[in-house]
Amino acid sequence: MAKPKVLATRPLFPAAQAILNAGCDVEYWKEAESISKNEMLQKLRDKEGLVCLLTEKVNQELLNAAPKLRIAANVAVGFDNIDLDACTKRGVVATNTPGVLDETTADFAWALMMAVARRVSEGEALARSGAWKGWDLDQLVGTDVWGKTLGIVGFGRIGKAMARRALGFQMKVVYADAVQAPEAVEKELKATYRGMTDLLAESDFVSLHVPLLPETRGMFDGARFHRMKPTAFLINTARGPVVDEAALVHALESGKIAGAALDVYENEPFIHAGLKRPNVVLAPHLASASIETRTKMACMAAENVVAFFKGQKPANMLNPQALKAS
Ligand code: GLV
Repeated sequence: MAKPKVLATRPLFPAAQAILNAGCDVEYWKEAESISKNEMLQKLRDKEGLVCLLTEKVNQELLNAAPKLRIAANVAVGFDNIDLDACTKRGVVATNTPGVLDETTADFAWALMMAVARRVSEGEALARSGAWKGWDLDQLVGTDVWGKTLGIVGFGRIGKAMARRALGFQMKVVYADAVQAPEAVEKELKATYRGMTDLLAESDFVSLHVPLLPETRGMFDGARFHRMKPTAFLINTARGPVVDEAALVHALESGKIAGAALDVYENEPFIHAGLKRPNVVLAPHLASASIETRTKMACMAAENVVAFFKGQKPANMLNPQALKAS
């Protein structure tokens, strides 16, 4: 029997290719430049499966161009690039890659927090510049991370991984979430539930770990920055549009907060010029980018596709209702 035709918008990694090739007839996009929307739509005309990145929109336009499509496997845990309702109506199953990137993402959020607090980027620039004159008592003094208060907004898997790291830094951890964690988890992680207002007032570092949803879009606006301490830092490894970027720039310019460390932006890859300041550490959406984790993410997406075409339920289905519609 002919294998189902699948488009992968990246070559993926050899381990993921091995999984996918065993069950599917795969066309990989191998150019250095990302696939354009038009090219992707054109290639999807005869495809039943898609392995895609978070930069690619799986929306009504794509579905219209892909009449045979039955599964779209996102190589990411966040799936705000996928119009789930439209997929479900069309009977297209969508999957993501939860669970494999939590520790790696928390590592990176931690790296950003350390970098902005201890002025690592500014120090590196000075060290490379040739202008460094040697040790000085008040040179590039930053602020301590250890012993401070970490406010975690969104206490899912990644938020909890942040809390676990905070234990080693003797930090006080407060968290805000739609639901309070079980007492045993709070005890283990020494984390205390707070309303957002209290969390903002208390925290020296506020780290965002919520998905992008209608209710979290623009969640960090001028009013929220106003409630933060002027000595506090914002860390965002979640999704850019959770933060109103213009309001963040205003908060930085007016000294309402001390700084920020960002991995994600409102309109990637555009970065607001007002964020390019010494007290802001900028990274280009790298939080899950370790070879171990990216390989696991790609393999997971491949496994979801292969399972689906074997007639099994993919492990990470976002819209099981789509199976009924298909
Ligand atoms: C990365 O941003 C992801 O959602 O996996």
